[in-house]
Amino acid sequence: METEFRLLVKNAAQAVLVCAHNERYLTKVGMETIAVIENASLVIGRDGLIKAVGPTTAIASQFKGATFENIIDAEGMCILPGLVDAHTHPVWAGDRVHEFALKLAGASYMEIHQAGGGIHFTVEHTRRASAEELLVSLKQRLQRMLRAGTTLVECKSGYGLDLDTEIKMLTVIEQARQEQPVGISSTFCGAHSVPKGKTAKEATKDIINVHLPQLKKKVENGDLHIDNIDVFCEKGVFDLDCTRAILQTGSSMGFQINFHGDELHPMNSAELGAELNALAVSHLEEVTDKGIAAMAKSKTAAVLLPTTAYMLRLKQPRARDMLNAGVIVALGSDFNPNAYCFSMPMVMHFACVNMKMSMSEALAASTINAAYALGKSRTHGSLEVGKNGDFVILKSSRWEHLIYQFGGHQELVKYVVVKGVIV
Ligand code: NIG
Ligand code: FE
Repeated sequence: METEFRLLVKNAAQAVLVCAHNERYLTKVGMETIAVIENASLVIGRDGLIKAVGPTTAIASQFKGATFENIIDAEGMCILPGLVDAHTHPVWAGDRVHEFALKLAGASYMEIHQAGGGIHFTVEHTRRASAEELLVSLKQRLQRMLRAGTTLVECKSGYGLDLDTEIKMLTVIEQARQEQPVGISSTFCGAHSVPKGKTAKEATKDIINVHLPQLKKKVENGDLHIDNIDVFCEKGVFDLDCTRAILQTGSSMGFQINFHGDELHPMNSAELGAELNALAVSHLEEVTDKGIAAMAKSKTAAVLLPTTAYMLRLKQPRARDMLNAGVIVALGSDFNPNAYCFSMPMVMHFACVNMKMSMSEALAASTINAAYALGKSRTHGSLEVGKNGDFVILKSSRWEHLIYQFGGHQELVKYVVVKGVIV
């Protein structure tokens, strides 16, 4: 029997486990009734995994005589699983603050895109930036996410569109994975926009015949790591047929499908996600009843992005309809130059106020379900024995303060812990 452990967190007012039965995801009823223990303690082993979580008295007697490298007395505080951000675009150069002014003055996202701004603007700057510059800014952004409680994040490429820049971005993401504590799920999003001078069909052929085979070779050689494949399925970007063709090719190469759909127009993206057994479809502001029904029958998660709907004054994603239908709902920040938000607590707050989710639904959507949307809910997303010791300690005796308070979380988030180490 082991007697030496990495960390003991004792005397917490509450530990929010989220799941207690090894669920891979939660749907509505499970999200409403997440598991919480009052007066709790938590033990992390030297392997960084959770060894035990339970009432303080039970843990004290179970671990009597054990030694710990570190002890946190969490009296008056709460322990929650590390937050999982299921959708971000954090690798880019160039400032788009001027576009915020245009949007406030009434310009739509697509008007700016079609005039050569938006993603095109960021692509120009990202192509010119060095890998070193991109890495520095990525690590700073991940640090800001970490300070708000995020311990696992999806990171997309997609501001290169040409193969060399996409590889540069994916390499930077891989370097960041190795050099800082936040866990990363990496996504090839080469079909984020149609490159200038090409049609969507030509770009689709390039991705299928050239980009994906070369990327696969690099992955097989161990030169690159890619978890997911993504396409921006939207009117004026990649239509449903191009999207299907790219995703099917990526999936046949072993990448998980996780794509943008039904954001500005109903595109039948939700139906396509269900048809392809996608891990997740993001956005879905314009999803139809049929799309929701198709997703409810599938195991495809809906990654809802309240910041984007807020920023662009879009229709709110139909979280209630999806939850009532039995869809697996997750949340993401969509951090990108359009939606400049690092904070999952802020995202949960928007999800509750604007999308009418309850606080426990929002937390489940930002932990276990977001981990599921990345294919990582076996190891992340809840405080259960055997999972990574990734968690947040709040300076509050009720966990709901993480969502109730909006803005200024630096004071509230007292500790962020990854694999049992305070970071
Ligand atoms: O998820 N909708 C497409 N992609 C991003 C926006 C990217 C950008 O504007 O730079 C999104 O919101
Ligand atoms: Fe996005």
